[in-house]
Amino acid sequence: MALEVHNRKCILLFFLLRTISDTIGLKDVAVTIPQAATVGDTVTLQCRYNLEGEPLYTVKWYKGQSEFYRFLPKELPNTQVFPLPGIDVDLSKSTPNEVVLRNVQPEVSGRYRCEVSTDSPNFFTNIETGYMYVINIPKGEPQMKIEKDSYEIGYTLRGNCTSPPSYPAVNLTWYINKKKVNESSLFYISDPSAAVEGRRMPKITVSGLELDIDGNTFQGGKARLQCVASLFHLYNSEAEIILEEERPRPRPSSVLGTRDATSGHYGPSSLRFGVIQRFVRKKTHI
Ligand SMILES: *[C@@H]1O[C@H](CO)[C@@H](O)[C@H](O)[C@H]1NC(C)=O
Ligand SMILES: *[C@@H]1O[C@H](CO)[C@@H](O)[C@H](O)[C@H]1NC(C)=O
Ligand SMILES: *[C@@H]1O[C@H](CO)[C@@H](O)[C@H](O)[C@H]1NC(C)=O
Repeated sequence: MALEVHNRKCILLFFLLRTISDTIGLKDVAVTIPQAATVGDTVTLQCRYNLEGEPLYTVKWYKGQSEFYRFLPKELPNTQVFPLPGIDVDLSKSTPNEVVLRNVQPEVSGRYRCEVSTDSPNFFTNIETGYMYVINIPKGEPQMKIEKDSYEIGYTLRGNCTSPPSYPAVNLTWYINKKKVNESSLFYISDPSAAVEGRRMPKITVSGLELDIDGNTFQGGKARLQCVASLFHLYNSEAEIILEEERPRPRPSSVLGTRDATSGHYGPSSLRFGVIQRFVRKKTHI
Protein backbone atom coordinates (compact mmCIF):
# COMPACT_ATOMS: atom_id res chain seq x y z
CA MET A 1 0.00 0.00 0.00
CA ALA A 2 2.74 2.41 1.03
CA LEU A 3 4.62 1.50 -2.10
CA GLU A 4 1.61 2.24 -4.24
CA VAL A 5 1.23 5.68 -2.72
CA HIS A 6 4.91 6.30 -3.23
CA ASN A 7 4.61 5.24 -6.87
CA ARG A 8 1.73 7.59 -7.43
CA LYS A 9 3.77 10.44 -6.03
CA CYS A 10 6.64 9.52 -8.31
CA ILE A 11 4.38 9.47 -11.34
CA LEU A 12 2.89 12.79 -10.36
CA LEU A 13 6.33 14.28 -9.87
CA PHE A 14 7.46 12.87 -13.18
CA PHE A 15 4.57 14.45 -15.06
CA LEU A 16 5.03 17.69 -13.22
CA LEU A 17 8.72 17.78 -14.14
CA ARG A 18 7.95 16.91 -17.72
CA THR A 19 5.34 19.60 -18.00
CA ILE A 20 7.72 22.17 -16.61
CA SER A 21 10.70 20.99 -18.65
CA ASP A 22 8.63 20.71 -21.83
CA THR A 23 8.41 24.42 -21.78
CA ILE A 24 12.18 24.76 -21.40
CA GLY A 25 13.68 22.60 -24.16
CA LEU A 26 12.32 21.27 -27.47
CA LYS A 27 9.65 23.72 -28.53
CA ASP A 28 7.34 24.43 -31.41
CA VAL A 29 7.14 21.00 -33.00
CA ALA A 30 4.93 21.44 -36.08
CA VAL A 31 4.18 19.36 -39.14
CA THR A 32 3.20 20.41 -42.65
CA ILE A 33 1.41 17.57 -44.39
CA PRO A 34 -0.57 18.12 -47.60
CA GLN A 35 -4.29 17.67 -46.99
CA ALA A 36 -4.62 15.86 -50.31
CA ALA A 37 -2.41 14.61 -53.11
CA THR A 38 -3.11 12.88 -56.42
CA VAL A 39 -2.11 9.26 -57.04
CA GLY A 40 1.45 9.15 -58.38
CA ASP A 41 2.49 12.49 -56.84
CA THR A 42 5.73 13.07 -54.94
CA VAL A 43 4.83 14.39 -51.51
CA THR A 44 6.98 16.21 -48.95
CA LEU A 45 6.11 15.86 -45.27
CA GLN A 46 7.74 18.48 -43.08
CA CYS A 47 8.48 18.45 -39.38
CA ARG A 48 9.91 21.56 -37.79
CA TYR A 49 11.10 21.90 -34.22
CA ASN A 50 13.07 24.19 -31.98
CA LEU A 51 15.62 22.26 -29.92
CA GLU A 52 16.56 25.27 -27.78
CA GLY A 53 20.12 23.97 -27.47
CA GLU A 54 19.18 20.38 -26.61
CA PRO A 55 21.02 17.68 -28.57
CA LEU A 56 18.81 15.92 -31.13
CA TYR A 57 18.42 12.19 -30.63
CA THR A 58 15.87 11.09 -33.27
CA VAL A 59 13.21 12.27 -35.64
CA LYS A 60 10.77 9.44 -36.38
CA TRP A 61 7.92 9.35 -38.89
CA TYR A 62 4.96 7.03 -38.47
CA LYS A 63 1.96 6.26 -40.59
CA GLY A 64 -0.73 5.13 -38.18
CA GLN A 65 1.16 2.94 -35.69
CA SER A 66 3.97 1.96 -38.06
CA GLU A 67 7.29 3.74 -38.21
CA PHE A 68 8.68 4.15 -41.73
CA TYR A 69 11.50 6.68 -41.42
CA ARG A 70 14.02 7.51 -38.74
CA PHE A 71 16.72 10.15 -38.62
CA LEU A 72 19.56 9.53 -36.13
CA PRO A 73 22.24 12.22 -36.26
CA LYS A 74 24.69 10.27 -34.07
CA GLU A 75 24.59 7.05 -36.03
CA LEU A 76 25.79 5.97 -39.42
CA PRO A 77 23.93 5.84 -41.65
CA ASN A 78 21.92 8.78 -40.32
CA THR A 79 18.70 7.49 -41.78
CA GLN A 80 16.70 4.29 -41.57
CA VAL A 81 13.70 3.27 -43.62
CA PHE A 82 11.25 0.60 -42.53
CA PRO A 83 9.23 -0.98 -45.31
CA LEU A 84 5.54 -0.16 -45.34
CA PRO A 85 3.18 -1.07 -48.20
CA GLY A 86 2.76 1.80 -50.65
CA ILE A 87 5.39 4.00 -48.97
CA ASP A 88 8.47 4.74 -51.07
CA VAL A 89 10.83 7.11 -49.24
CA ASP A 90 13.21 9.11 -51.43
CA LEU A 91 16.25 8.99 -49.13
CA SER A 92 18.30 11.32 -51.32
CA LYS A 93 15.80 14.12 -50.62
CA SER A 94 14.91 13.33 -47.01
CA THR A 95 16.49 15.45 -44.28
CA PRO A 96 16.15 15.94 -40.50
CA ASN A 97 13.13 18.16 -41.28
CA GLU A 98 11.62 16.52 -44.33
CA VAL A 99 10.68 13.15 -45.65
CA VAL A 100 9.87 12.77 -49.34
CA LEU A 101 7.47 10.07 -50.52
CA ARG A 102 7.50 9.05 -54.17
CA ASN A 103 4.62 7.79 -56.31
CA VAL A 104 1.97 7.90 -53.56
CA GLN A 105 -0.98 5.48 -53.79
CA PRO A 106 -4.50 5.59 -52.27
CA GLU A 107 -3.52 3.14 -49.51
CA VAL A 108 -1.09 5.65 -48.04
CA SER A 109 -4.01 7.91 -47.14
CA GLY A 110 -4.03 8.25 -43.39
CA ARG A 111 -2.63 9.87 -40.30
CA TYR A 112 1.06 10.77 -40.22
CA ARG A 113 3.01 11.48 -37.07
CA CYS A 114 6.36 13.11 -36.48
CA GLU A 115 8.06 12.31 -33.18
CA VAL A 116 11.08 14.37 -32.14
CA SER A 117 13.28 13.29 -29.20
CA THR A 118 16.27 14.96 -27.64
CA ASP A 119 19.25 13.15 -26.18
CA SER A 120 20.46 12.88 -22.57
CA PRO A 121 20.20 14.28 -20.03
CA ASN A 122 16.62 15.46 -20.65
CA PHE A 123 15.13 13.09 -23.26
CA PHE A 124 12.30 15.36 -24.27
CA THR A 125 9.81 13.97 -26.76
CA ASN A 126 7.16 15.77 -28.74
CA ILE A 127 4.67 14.53 -31.31
CA GLU A 128 2.62 16.24 -34.00
CA THR A 129 0.25 14.63 -36.49
CA GLY A 130 -1.59 15.40 -39.72
CA TYR A 131 -3.92 13.61 -42.13
CA MET A 132 -3.29 13.13 -45.83
CA TYR A 133 -5.65 11.81 -48.51
CA VAL A 134 -4.25 10.37 -51.71
CA ILE A 135 -7.00 10.56 -54.28
CA ASN A 136 -7.89 9.54 -57.77
CA ILE A 137 -9.28 12.59 -59.59
CA PRO A 138 -12.98 11.82 -60.18
CA LYS A 139 -13.79 10.96 -63.76
CA GLY A 140 -16.67 12.96 -65.12
CA GLU A 141 -18.80 15.86 -63.99
CA PRO A 142 -21.75 16.27 -61.65
CA GLN A 143 -25.14 15.59 -63.20
CA MET A 144 -27.96 18.01 -62.44
CA LYS A 145 -31.56 16.97 -62.88
CA ILE A 146 -34.59 19.14 -62.25
CA GLU A 147 -38.10 17.87 -61.97
CA LYS A 148 -39.64 20.05 -64.67
CA ASP A 149 -38.48 22.29 -67.45
CA SER A 150 -40.94 25.07 -66.67
CA TYR A 151 -41.82 26.96 -63.43
CA GLU A 152 -43.96 29.76 -62.12
CA ILE A 153 -43.49 32.09 -59.16
CA GLY A 154 -44.82 30.40 -56.06
CA TYR A 155 -43.79 26.95 -57.25
CA THR A 156 -41.04 24.82 -55.78
CA LEU A 157 -38.14 23.82 -57.95
CA ARG A 158 -37.02 20.28 -57.09
CA GLY A 159 -33.76 18.88 -58.33
CA ASN A 160 -30.87 16.55 -57.62
CA CYS A 161 -27.19 16.86 -58.22
CA THR A 162 -25.23 13.61 -58.45
CA SER A 163 -21.45 13.56 -58.16
CA PRO A 164 -19.12 11.24 -60.01
CA PRO A 165 -17.84 8.49 -57.68
CA SER A 166 -14.88 9.44 -55.50
CA TYR A 167 -13.08 8.65 -52.27
CA PRO A 168 -13.44 10.63 -50.12
CA ALA A 169 -16.83 11.95 -51.22
CA VAL A 170 -16.83 15.26 -53.08
CA ASN A 171 -18.41 18.40 -51.68
CA LEU A 172 -21.50 19.46 -53.61
CA THR A 173 -22.51 23.11 -53.43
CA TRP A 174 -25.55 24.69 -55.09
CA TYR A 175 -25.63 28.28 -56.29
CA ILE A 176 -28.55 30.35 -57.53
CA ASN A 177 -27.43 33.44 -59.45
CA LYS A 178 -23.89 32.89 -58.08
CA LYS A 179 -25.14 32.97 -54.46
CA LYS A 180 -24.80 29.88 -52.30
CA VAL A 181 -28.16 28.17 -51.75
CA ASN A 182 -29.22 28.11 -48.11
CA GLU A 183 -28.69 24.77 -46.33
CA SER A 184 -32.38 24.81 -45.38
CA SER A 185 -33.24 24.25 -49.06
CA LEU A 186 -30.96 21.22 -49.34
CA PHE A 187 -31.10 17.60 -48.30
CA TYR A 188 -28.75 14.70 -48.73
CA ILE A 189 -29.69 11.51 -50.45
CA SER A 190 -27.45 8.58 -49.61
CA ASP A 191 -25.78 6.56 -52.30
CA PRO A 192 -27.74 3.29 -52.50
CA SER A 193 -24.55 1.37 -53.34
CA ALA A 194 -22.66 2.77 -50.31
CA ALA A 195 -23.92 0.10 -47.92
CA VAL A 196 -22.44 -2.79 -49.88
CA GLU A 197 -19.09 -1.22 -50.61
CA GLY A 198 -15.96 -1.14 -48.50
CA ARG A 199 -14.99 1.73 -46.28
CA ARG A 200 -12.54 3.31 -48.69
CA MET A 201 -14.46 2.62 -51.88
CA PRO A 202 -15.44 5.49 -54.15
CA LYS A 203 -18.83 6.89 -53.32
CA ILE A 204 -21.46 8.85 -55.17
CA THR A 205 -22.95 11.85 -53.43
CA VAL A 206 -26.43 13.14 -54.20
CA SER A 207 -27.63 16.52 -53.01
CA GLY A 208 -31.32 17.34 -53.29
CA LEU A 209 -32.67 20.84 -53.77
CA GLU A 210 -36.09 22.25 -52.93
CA LEU A 211 -36.10 25.90 -53.84
CA ASP A 212 -39.17 28.06 -53.45
CA ILE A 213 -39.47 30.31 -56.46
CA ASP A 214 -40.29 33.90 -55.66
CA GLY A 215 -39.80 37.28 -57.26
CA ASN A 216 -36.14 37.30 -56.19
CA THR A 217 -35.29 34.04 -57.91
CA PHE A 218 -35.08 35.70 -61.29
CA GLN A 219 -32.80 38.57 -62.11
CA GLY A 220 -33.43 40.34 -65.38
CA GLY A 221 -35.80 37.53 -66.30
CA LYS A 222 -33.17 34.84 -65.76
CA ALA A 223 -32.03 32.42 -63.09
CA ARG A 224 -28.72 30.58 -63.17
CA LEU A 225 -28.64 27.37 -61.17
CA GLN A 226 -25.29 25.71 -60.56
CA CYS A 227 -24.08 22.63 -58.78
CA VAL A 228 -20.35 22.58 -58.07
CA ALA A 229 -18.54 19.37 -57.17
CA SER A 230 -15.14 19.81 -55.54
CA LEU A 231 -12.51 17.62 -53.98
CA PHE A 232 -10.03 19.67 -51.97
CA HIS A 233 -7.99 21.89 -54.32
CA LEU A 234 -7.58 19.05 -56.82
CA TYR A 235 -10.91 18.81 -58.62
CA ASN A 236 -13.67 21.28 -59.39
CA SER A 237 -16.44 20.68 -61.86
CA GLU A 238 -19.90 22.14 -62.27
CA ALA A 239 -23.23 21.59 -63.93
CA GLU A 240 -25.37 24.57 -64.79
CA ILE A 241 -28.93 25.23 -65.89
CA ILE A 242 -30.24 28.60 -67.00
CA LEU A 243 -33.94 29.35 -66.73
CA GLU A 244 -35.37 32.27 -68.62
CA GLU A 245 -38.70 34.00 -68.64
CA GLU A 246 -40.86 32.51 -71.35
CA ARG A 247 -42.19 35.28 -73.57
CA PRO A 248 -45.94 35.01 -73.49
CA ARG A 249 -47.27 34.10 -76.89
CA PRO A 250 -49.57 36.77 -78.26
CA ARG A 251 -53.20 35.88 -77.91
CA PRO A 252 -54.70 35.15 -81.29
CA SER A 253 -56.76 38.12 -82.43
CA SER A 254 -60.31 37.58 -81.36
CA VAL A 255 -63.26 37.83 -83.63
CA LEU A 256 -64.01 41.12 -81.91
CA GLY A 257 -60.82 42.50 -83.42
CA THR A 258 -58.83 43.09 -80.22
CA ARG A 259 -55.26 44.03 -81.23
CA ASP A 260 -53.76 43.76 -77.76
CA ALA A 261 -50.76 41.66 -78.74
CA THR A 262 -48.77 42.69 -75.66
CA SER A 263 -51.00 40.91 -73.19
CA GLY A 264 -50.17 37.25 -73.07
CA HIS A 265 -51.48 34.07 -71.60
CA TYR A 266 -50.13 34.89 -68.18
CA GLY A 267 -50.60 37.82 -65.88
CA PRO A 268 -47.54 39.45 -64.24
CA SER A 269 -47.93 37.28 -61.14
CA SER A 270 -47.86 34.08 -63.13
CA LEU A 271 -44.78 34.52 -65.29
CA ARG A 272 -43.41 31.26 -66.57
CA PHE A 273 -39.76 30.42 -66.65
CA GLY A 274 -38.28 27.63 -68.71
CA VAL A 275 -34.92 25.96 -69.11
CA ILE A 276 -33.00 27.49 -71.98
CA GLN A 277 -29.48 26.15 -71.46
CA ARG A 278 -27.71 23.30 -69.75
CA PHE A 279 -23.98 22.76 -69.61
CA VAL A 280 -21.12 21.36 -67.60
CA ARG A 281 -17.65 22.77 -66.98
CA LYS A 282 -14.64 20.91 -65.74
CA LYS A 283 -11.58 22.34 -64.11
CA THR A 284 -9.07 19.93 -62.66
CA HIS A 285 -5.79 20.74 -60.96
CA ILE A 286 -6.95 24.22 -60.14
C1 LIG B 1 -34.02 13.01 -56.59
O1 LIG B 1 -33.72 11.81 -55.90
C2 LIG B 1 -34.79 11.30 -55.14
C3 LIG B 1 -34.31 10.10 -54.35
O2 LIG B 1 -33.60 9.20 -55.17
C4 LIG B 1 -35.95 10.95 -56.06
O3 LIG B 1 -37.04 10.50 -55.29
C5 LIG B 1 -36.37 12.17 -56.87
O4 LIG B 1 -37.35 11.84 -57.81
C6 LIG B 1 -35.14 12.76 -57.59
N1 LIG B 1 -35.54 14.01 -58.23
C7 LIG B 1 -35.24 14.30 -59.49
C8 LIG B 1 -35.68 15.63 -59.98
O5 LIG B 1 -34.62 13.53 -60.23
C1 LIG C 1 -31.09 30.82 -44.60
O1 LIG C 1 -31.87 30.13 -43.64
C2 LIG C 1 -31.84 30.74 -42.37
C3 LIG C 1 -32.60 29.84 -41.40
O2 LIG C 1 -33.61 29.12 -42.02
C4 LIG C 1 -32.45 32.14 -42.46
O3 LIG C 1 -32.40 32.77 -41.19
C5 LIG C 1 -31.66 32.97 -43.47
O4 LIG C 1 -32.24 34.22 -43.65
C6 LIG C 1 -31.59 32.24 -44.81
N1 LIG C 1 -30.73 32.97 -45.70
C7 LIG C 1 -31.08 33.25 -46.95
C8 LIG C 1 -30.06 33.97 -47.75
O5 LIG C 1 -32.15 32.96 -47.42
C1 LIG D 1 -15.48 20.05 -48.05
O1 LIG D 1 -15.68 21.34 -47.53
C2 LIG D 1 -15.23 21.51 -46.20
C3 LIG D 1 -15.64 22.89 -45.73
O2 LIG D 1 -15.26 23.86 -46.64
C4 LIG D 1 -13.71 21.30 -46.17
O3 LIG D 1 -13.23 21.43 -44.87
C5 LIG D 1 -13.40 19.90 -46.68
O4 LIG D 1 -12.00 19.71 -46.75
C6 LIG D 1 -13.99 19.70 -48.07
N1 LIG D 1 -13.84 18.30 -48.45
C7 LIG D 1 -13.41 17.94 -49.65
C8 LIG D 1 -13.35 16.47 -49.88
O5 LIG D 1 -13.10 18.74 -50.53
